[in-house]
Parts: sequence; C-alpha cells; structure tokens
Amino acid sequence: MNRDEQPVIGESPAFLEVMDQVSRAAALNRPVLIVGERGTGKELVAERLHFLSQRWDQPLVKLNCAAISEALLESELFGHEAGAFTDATQRRLGRFEIAHRGSLFLDELATTPLTVQEKILRIIEYGQFERLGSSRTISVDVRLIGAANVDLPELAEQGRFRADLLDRLAFDVITLPPLRARTEDILPLAEHFAMRMSRELGHELFAGFSRSVVEQLHQHAWPGNVRELKNVVERAVYRHDNPEAPVRRLVLDPFHSPWRPQGAGGAPNHPDLPDPGSKQLDLRAWLNEQEKTLVEQALAACQGHQARAAERLSLTYDQLRGILRKHNLSAR
Ligand SMILES: Nc1ncnc2c1ncn2[C@@H]1O[C@H](COP(=O)(O)OP(=O)(O)OP(=O)(O)O)[C@@H](O)[C@H]1O
Ligand SMILES: [Mg+2]
Repeated sequence: MNRDEQPVIGESPAFLEVMDQVSRAAALNRPVLIVGERGTGKELVAERLHFLSQRWDQPLVKLNCAAISEALLESELFGHEAGAFTDATQRRLGRFEIAHRGSLFLDELATTPLTVQEKILRIIEYGQFERLGSSRTISVDVRLIGAANVDLPELAEQGRFRADLLDRLAFDVITLPPLRARTEDILPLAEHFAMRMSRELGHELFAGFSRSVVEQLHQHAWPGNVRELKNVVERAVYRHDNPEAPVRRLVLDPFHSPWRPQGAGGAPNHPDLPDPGSKQLDLRAWLNEQEKTLVEQALAACQGHQARAAERLSLTYDQLRGILRKHNLSAR
C-alpha cells in the first residue's frame, strides 16, 4: 500500500460493487466522474483510482474548485506567465502542468464557470491549453477525475454546466451510495475509526462499543455519511475516560445544548404572522400552508428520511405519511 493511501473499509454489497467498478475504471486511461452526497468518500475513491492506475507513481494533484475565487481558478488550473495580470510577478505552473503524466482530481467541479469548463473540455479532447498571458500552446497528458455532490445532468439541462463536457467526463460515473444505504458498513467503519483514535490517544486497546451504542449507530440516518460517523466515533472515544471499558455514550449532535442560540440571523423560522385584526384571514388555508412548509423543511433536513422527519416533528410515521398524502408530497 502506498504511504499516501488510506485503508478503504466496507463490506456491504453496494459498497463492494462500487469498489469493483473503481478497480475496472482505474485501469482505463479515461476521465472519471465520482458523484455522491457529502462525506461519502469521493476523495478517497479518487485516490484509489489513481493508485490502482498505471499512473500510480506519477503525481496525483488535487484542487477544490469551490474553494477558490473564479478569478484565481483559471490561473490555478492553467498557470500564468509573469505579467499576465497585476499580481503575476513570476511565471507559475498550473495544476494541469504539475499533474503531467499523472492524475488531476477536480473536486466540486459543478461550481466551475462555463469559460473554464470550455478550457477543460479542450484539454480532455486534445490535451492542449495555454498559460494565462501566453499564446504558446502546451500539451499535457493528464487523467482527469472529477467529483460532484450535485446532479450534473440537471445543471446541464439548466445551462449551468456544459453538456459536451459532461458527456466526455461521464465515460464512467462512479456513484457512491450514502451510508444509510449500506448499514452493514457502519460497524466496521466505526470500529476502524475508534481503533485509530485509541492508538492516537496512546491506549493499549479499544474495548469496543456497548450494545446500546451499537444500536444508536445503526439507528442514526447519517446525513453527513462517513465523515459524520468518523467525527462522532472519534469524539466518543476521546471523551471516554476508561479505555478498559466499552464506549457507552455517543454525542450525535455536538451542538445540542439547552443554551444553543436560536435561528440563523433572521432565518425563516418565524414567518410574519398574519394579523386578522386588520385583515381577513383564511385560518385553515394558512395553517395548511404552514404544515406543508414545515414538513418539507423537516424532510429536507433529514435528507428525505421519513421516519427521522416524523421524529423531528413529534409525529408518528403514519401521521407523517398521512400529511404527505394530503399535500401530495412525494418521498423526496
Ligand atoms: N470506505 C471508507 N473507509 C475508510 N474511510 C473512509 C471511507 N469512506 C470515507 N472515509 C473517510 O471519511 C472521510 C470523508 O471522506 P471523503 O473526504 O473522501 O468524502 P467526500 O465524499 O469527498 O466528502 P465531501 O463531499 O464533503 O468533500 C475521510 O476522512 C475519509 O478518509
Ligand atoms: Mg471531498
């Protein structure tokens, strides 16, 4: 195993199937697109694709396209000559050049402006581009691995993502299942993160989880997927004071507190109440509308997980289903 490589844990059929797909895709010299909810392991899979490919001993360069401003993105990707713009005092190589013969992982690709997408398309097609401030064409051999946690075909339909670039990238699309769709992976992952944390804390061993903690791990919906699980488990191990005894307490929401500040600065939690003293009001219609909005918000917060949304709203599952039917709301 390469020293940059993280162990990849998972034994559910859904996950193993994806890993098979990754191994097959790795061998081919084509662009790959990795999609999945936040925290599902897209970056980990990108690394695996690189290290299983023939390019494993060449650079793997990463760039999060959402983390830098549009203005800087082009120069980060394609580089610039000295004097290309005000702050460009020296020539700088872009990520495409640095990744020559290796792989370039472009994270959050959906956020790139259309002009940049056009240049990326040209690199995929012809392997060619120019540094900013230069007319000299440079050729590179780079395998592109893109990641997105939004629906790119939908963006393409709305004209916010180039359909031709999507076609080229979509030679193979690897979709990572959310953790709630592979519950068999929860415990192995949790044990892996717990053992790593125990080692880090200098404990001799990890004494496991109590039965109620295991149950809690299985019942939670994990909207933040593997990253959330990792944080929850690491926090539990770190707060646990007796390494000889199993971990008995999980804190699923670290912000939970009776003193938690409310609202997000004028968030729409308190819509202006209509005033029947000054204006006619249809009370039933208004209450109906509120009911619909709040149910939609709860479902969105629970990623469409109905049982959890019901819990949030202090309803039974059947009551929630009844309300969904009444408002013609579908599952998602
Ligand atoms: N199958 C797995 N085995 C071991 N660790 C994993 C696995 N999947 C994810 N992780 C770990 O979970 C964390 C989140 O993974 P990663 O950063 O790859 O997710 P992501 O999909 O890129 O998330 P985001 O969309 O938020 O960027 C990382 O610490 C990663 O090492
Ligand atoms: Mg990521």
